[in-house]
Amino acid sequence: MSESPLLSIQDFSLEFNTFDGVYQAIADVNIDLAKGESLGIVGETGCGKSVTAKSILKLVPSPPGRVRAGRILFNGEDLVQASEERMRAIRGLDIAMIFQDPMTFLNPVFTVGNQLVDVIMAHQRFLPQRESRSRREARDYAIEMLRKVHLPNPETQFHNYPHQLSGGMRQRVLIAMALSGRPQILIADEPTTALDVTIQAQILDLIGELMKDLGLSVILITHDLGVVALLCNRVVVMYSGQVVEDASVKALFDNPAHPYTQGLLAAVPHPGRSSGVLSGIPGQLPNLLDPPKGCRFQARCSKAMAACGEMAPLKRIGKDQSVACWLYGEDGHA
Ligand SMILES: Nc1ncnc2c1ncn2[C@@H]1O[C@H](COP(=O)(O)OP(=O)(O)OP(=O)(O)O)[C@@H](O)[C@H]1O
Ligand SMILES: [Mg+2]
Repeated sequence: MSESPLLSIQDFSLEFNTFDGVYQAIADVNIDLAKGESLGIVGETGCGKSVTAKSILKLVPSPPGRVRAGRILFNGEDLVQASEERMRAIRGLDIAMIFQDPMTFLNPVFTVGNQLVDVIMAHQRFLPQRESRSRREARDYAIEMLRKVHLPNPETQFHNYPHQLSGGMRQRVLIAMALSGRPQILIADEPTTALDVTIQAQILDLIGELMKDLGLSVILITHDLGVVALLCNRVVVMYSGQVVEDASVKALFDNPAHPYTQGLLAAVPHPGRSSGVLSGIPGQLPNLLDPPKGCRFQARCSKAMAACGEMAPLKRIGKDQSVACWLYGEDGHA
C-alpha cells in the first residue's frame, strides 16, 4: 500500500488491573485501515476484538484498563496521547461506533427524534460556525438521516419512544446517530447479533449501502465469517489478544495460513461438506494473568515448535496475506 493508512494501530498492548493480577488482554497488535476499506476483525469470544475497537475511541475504562505500549494513529495523530476534549471532537465527527445492543444506548424516557437531535446539536460545538444548525434545522437533518437508514415513516417515528420501535428499527436509529456527524470511519461491533436473521440481513445490507454512498471506511467486528465474506475486503484474525493473520477475504478463505485460522474455518458449517461433522479446536484459551511467552495459540496448535516461545512477526506470504507464524519461512511457504 503506497498511501499511508487512515488509521494505524501500531504495536499496541493493553492490560487490565484486576484483583487477581495484571490481565494482559491485548499484546503487540498491529492493524491498518486504508481509506474506503472495509475491514473485518474476527476471533472467538474474549480474544480482544471489542477492547481493540474501544481503544481506538479511548472508550476502555481506565482504571482498570491501561495502555502498556503502542500508538493508534488517525491521519497521523496519535489518539493514545489525545486529550479527552480532543477525543470528544473525534468521536462521532471523525470516527463513530455502533454496538451490539441498541437498547443500551437509547434512553427509554426520550423520543428517538429528540435523542438524535441532541447528538446532532452536541456535534455543533466542534463544527465551524458556517456549518452549525439551529435546533429546527437539526430536526430536519435528523429526519433526513432517519430516511437515509430506511426507517419507515421517519416523520412519525421521530416522535416515538425506543420501546415503540422493533430491534432492527432501533439499530437503524443508532446507525443514523453514528453517521449524523459524517464520520470517515464507522466501527461496528457485532451490530447484528442481537437481531433475528432476516433483520440481520437487512441491517448488513444497509451498512454495505452506506459504505458505498458515503465513502465510509469500516471496521466490522464479528464472530461470523459469513458476515465478513459479505461485507469486507480484508480481515484480521485475532487469537487471545494477538493478531495471527491479516489477509484479503479471498486469500483467507482460499488459503488460510495460520493454524488457528485453519481451525476457525474448519469449524464453520459448510453446506457442501459431506461429513456433517464440525471440527472444533481442542484445548482452552490461555490464562492472560500469566500468558505463555510468544504465540498464545501454541498449547492448542498441532504444529507448535520450540520457536513459538517467541511471537513471530506478521510476515507477508502473498500479495494480500500476512501471517504471524514460524511455519512460514523466508520464501513465504510452509
Ligand atoms: N473492564 C474490564 N476489566 C477486566 N477485563 C476486561 C475488561 N473488559 C474486557 N476485559 C477482558 O479483555 C478480554 C477481551 O475482551 P473483549 O470484550 O475485547 O472480547 P471480544 O473479542 O470482544 O469477545 P466477544 O466476542 O465475546 O464480544 C476478555 O478476556 C475480557 O474479559
Ligand atoms: Mg466483543
